[in-house]
Amino acid sequence: MGKKVKIRILKSEDLPAIIEIDQKVLGKPRPEYWRRKIEVSEFRPPLASLVAELEGKVIGFILGDVSGWEFGVPDDTGVIETVGVDPTFQRQGIARLLAEELIRSFKLNGVKKISTLVEWDDWDLLQFFHSMGFKRGERINLELDLDNQDI
Ligand SMILES: CC(C)(COP(=O)(O)OP(=O)(O)OC[C@H]1O[C@@H](n2cnc3c(N)ncnc32)[C@H](O)[C@@H]1OP(=O)(O)O)[C@@H](O)C(=O)NCCC(=O)NCCS
Repeated sequence: MGKKVKIRILKSEDLPAIIEIDQKVLGKPRPEYWRRKIEVSEFRPPLASLVAELEGKVIGFILGDVSGWEFGVPDDTGVIETVGVDPTFQRQGIARLLAEELIRSFKLNGVKKISTLVEWDDWDLLQFFHSMGFKRGERINLELDLDNQDI
């Protein structure tokens, strides 16, 4: 599988394929959400938004970012915002290929640390990141429930 899969920079034409994968994974379509995300990704470092293609079909994607990039002096912390693989092609090393390519390009550009946020009960993602060597970070997630606020 690995050999036939091509990792390349995401193009705006990949939007329908990404929406389809997301719908397969989450069960509901979010076209507007992805349209906005992909538009924003045009302003990110190009090597931080990648897709995996098999025989011309996009089967996975990864979106990353590094703040400060636009000034040519990237921060030394990169972010993986989202990663998704078509369920038909999961557990075949696609996300690993995408993440390795992203990590390589982050590293080449001076990034020293990569962070990501995962829902505590999203076992697939947790196990995937664990297998890539990610560990629990230093930040704490804070939330304010507005239903219980008089402000
Ligand atoms: C998490 C996800 C990206 C993994 O993609 P993948 O291509 O199947 O992952 P890989 O095959 O590269 O997995 C690499 C390693 O991660 C671990 N891993 C990945 N998925 C796992 C799972 N479901 N259970 C246990 N371990 C898992 C394994 O160690 C695996 O190596 P192995 O197969 O040799 O054991 C994929 O399951 C996914 O897209 N999930 C939905 C994520 C999501 O909600 N994204 C936002 C909306 S699209």
